[in-house]
Amino acid sequence: MAQAHKPRNGIQTDRNLALELVRVTEAAALAASHWIGHGKKNEADGAAVEAMRKAFDAVAIDGTVVIGEGEMDEAPMLFIGEKVGAGGPKMDIAVDPLEGTTLTAKAGPNAMATLALAEGGNFLHAPDIYMDKIAVGGGLPAGVINLDDSPAANLRNLARAKKVETSDLLVCILDRDRHKDLIAHCREAGARIMLISDGDVAGVIATAMPDSDIDIYLGSGGAPEGVLSAAALRCVGGQMQGRLLYESDDQIERVRSMGHADPKRCFSVEEMAKGDVMFAATGVTTGAMLRGVKRGVGSAVTHSIVMRSHSGTVRFIEAYHNFVQKTWTAT
Ligand code: FBP
Repeated sequence: MAQAHKPRNGIQTDRNLALELVRVTEAAALAASHWIGHGKKNEADGAAVEAMRKAFDAVAIDGTVVIGEGEMDEAPMLFIGEKVGAGGPKMDIAVDPLEGTTLTAKAGPNAMATLALAEGGNFLHAPDIYMDKIAVGGGLPAGVINLDDSPAANLRNLARAKKVETSDLLVCILDRDRHKDLIAHCREAGARIMLISDGDVAGVIATAMPDSDIDIYLGSGGAPEGVLSAAALRCVGGQMQGRLLYESDDQIERVRSMGHADPKRCFSVEEMAKGDVMFAATGVTTGAMLRGVKRGVGSAVTHSIVMRSHSGTVRFIEAYHNFVQKTWTAT
C-alpha cells in the first residue's frame, strides 16, 4: 500500500499552500489593476486590500496579520491583529496588498501585491515607521555588509567579495531627499546608482535575483516593507540588516511595548523573518521581476512569484483568469 504523504518539517500544512497564497496576491493585483494610471493611489490600495481580505477567506489557515495596513482604528481591513483564513494551522501573516500605491496611480514600474507567511511568532513586529536597510544577494561571505559601517566600507567589502571594482557595483536607492548624503557617499566611492521612485521590496529582492544587475540595496523605507523583503530574501538567499528609525519618543515607546527591549538595535534577516517562511507576489505593473496585470475583455493574465525558505524553490506562475466563470475577483 502506498504510504500516506508525510509533511516535511517547517510549514507543515503542505506545499499547496504556496498556490493558495498566489491566489490571494492575484486577487489583490487584479483589483488594483483597475486603478493603474488613474492618479488615485488610495482607491487602488483600497481595492487591493478588500480583494486580498476576501481571498484569504478561502485559505485553510488560522492567520493573524502581524504586518498589515495599520492599527484597527486606522485600517478597516487587514489591520495588525486581524484574524484571516478559513481555519487551520496558526500562521503569522505579513501583507502589503499594494506595494507601490503611487507607482500604480502613475502607471510606473514595479507595483505588486505581496504577502509573506510564517509560523506564529516568526516575523519581527514592526509598526509603520521607517527602517534603515542594507541588503545583498546570496553566495557572499557572511558579514560582508554591516549597517554600522559607512557606505564606502560596505561597497569596498562587497566589491572585494565579488572580485570586482567598486565602480562595477550597482546600488539601488530610493530617490528621496533624505538620501542626499547616502547618494553622495556612494558616488564618491565610485559606485553606480539606480534611483527608484518607489517600491523598495522589489529593490531588495532584485539584489538576489540572477537576472538583475543590482548588487546592493541601501537606504531607508517602510519597516513593514523591510520585513516583507526579509521574508523574500530568506527564500532566495541573501543578507539583509534593518534598524527601525524613530521620529518621536512615542514611536520608541510603541516599539518597546511590542516587546523589543532594545528598539534601536540592528536586526538581521533571520531576526526579521525566522523559521520556515513563504513569500508570494503578483505584479500589478510591469517591473524587472514580474509582469503587470494584462487585462482583456472578460479576462486577465497575471504573473506571480512564490517561494519558500525551507526548500529554496522559486516558482513563477502565469495565470489566465476568466471573469465569466469567477465570482471572487473584482471585475
Ligand atoms: P506605498 O505602496 O505604501 O506607497 O509604499 C511605497 C514605498 O516606496 C515603499 O516601497 C517604501 O518602503 C516606502 O514607500 C518609502 O516611504 P516614503 O515614500 O515615505 O519614502
